[in-house]
Order: sequence, then structure tokens, then C-alpha cells
Amino acid sequence: MLKGYPKTVVTKDGTTVLLRPLDKTDTEKLHTMLALIPEEEQWFLRENLTDIRLLERWMERLDFNYILPIVAVREDSGEIIGFLRLYRSPSGCARHVAHLRVTIHPQYRSQRVGSWMILDCAKLALEHGIEKLVAEFVSEVEEVAIKAARRLDFHHEAVIKDYVKDRRGDYKDLIIMVKTLYRDWSDF
Ligand SMILES: CC(C)(COP(=O)(O)OP(=O)(O)OC[C@H]1O[C@@H](n2cnc3c(N)ncnc32)[C@H](O)[C@@H]1OP(=O)(O)O)[C@@H](O)C(=O)NCCC(=O)NCCS
Repeated sequence: MLKGYPKTVVTKDGTTVLLRPLDKTDTEKLHTMLALIPEEEQWFLRENLTDIRLLERWMERLDFNYILPIVAVREDSGEIIGFLRLYRSPSGCARHVAHLRVTIHPQYRSQRVGSWMILDCAKLALEHGIEKLVAEFVSEVEEVAIKAARRLDFHHEAVIKDYVKDRRGDYKDLIIMVKTLYRDWSDF
């Protein structure tokens, strides 16, 4: 299993939060959080785990060899307020690369939970031999996430023009950002 968890972090407003691997028993709590994601945001999710049946199936098939899932949990109530996934490639040639997805509970955004989770996942990734973290963003729609990623040393690597459509059918560009990890990176 994943070593060094739970880890304690504190949000901007002083709430104590534990970072730990997702557990099979977390389905209901995770669904409670994901169900609060606004519909317009759900449209752009690459995998829609807001549907309880899809989430249950995803949890059943969860294989830590390919997906490293971390949750942020309020220490006092046990409520899940952040959900991060690192997706590893099964192919040998891309085993050093992982795709990152982060979702923060709408009521807990701008409290540094996302930043803590991404910093933690950089350490976790290094321990698993990952050298590059890749994240995808939709231009104009996910500008806050792009700004947050930039502050954590993710760099624009590529833009795919007109790759996705919004709910009205208008094209949006896909922005691919990469963070290179270095062996001497230290824990927080
Ligand atoms: C993007 C997301 C993961 C960021 O997590 P977060 O916990 O809200 O962000 P943080 O509090 O760690 O903020 C980090 C930086 O992002 C920027 N930021 C965060 N919220 C912002 C807002 N509402 N407006 C402008 N900038 C903002 C700031 O630069 C901030 O740093 P600062 O507080 O020192 O100024 C979260 O908002 C989210 O889940 N968004 C929807 C899903 C998504 O877009 N996921 C990304 C796909 S991988």
C-alpha cells in the first residue's frame, strides 16, 4: 500500500485536513462530494464519476498499479473535500509519465487544498518512479486551474485547437501542461 499516510495539512482558514489513499469504503462520501460539482463543470469532466453506478464500478475495478487515488478528508467530520488521481500508463515506454486529475469540493476551493494535494502527489509520484506529471485543461473554462497549475511549476507544453466542445457546441482548445519532477524534491 501507499506509505507515509495519513498526512496532515491545514487550509487557509485553519481547518485540519488529512490526505490519505482512497479506501473501498469511501464510495458514499466521495459521491456526496462529487454530486455537488456544478453541472456546467461536470460537462468537461474526462470521466463522469458523479453518477453513483459509474463510481461504484470505478471503485470495484480500482487497481493501484495503474491509478493512485488520494483524498483530502476533514479531520473533524470525515467529510471528503478533495479527490486526486494519478493515472499511470500500462505501457513500458510511458511508465515514467502520469496524468493528474484533481477535484476540490466546491465549498472548499481557494483554501489551498488543491495545492497541498498536488505537492503531495509530486512526492508520491517520485516514489513510484514517475518523472513527469501531465494535466489537461480546457481553455477559457478552467483558467483558475491553469493559474493554480502554473504556480506549482506546470508549464504549457501543447495546445490542441478546438479539441472539446462546450454545452452550446462551441469549440474550446485543450491545453496540456507538464510538471517535471526532480529526485531531490523534498516533502512538505
Ligand atoms: C483547480 C482546483 C483543483 C484548485 O484547487 P484549490 O484548492 O481551489 O486551489 P488553491 O487554493 O490551492 O489555490 C492555488 C492557486 O490557484 C489560484 N486560485 C485558486 N482559486 C482561485 C480563484 N477562485 N480565482 C483566481 N485564482 C484562484 C491562486 O493563484 C491560488 O494561489 P493563492 O491562494 O496563493 O493565490 C479546484 O479549484 C477545482 O477542483 N476546480 C475544478 C476542477 C478542475 O478544474 N480541475 C483541474 C483539472 S486537473
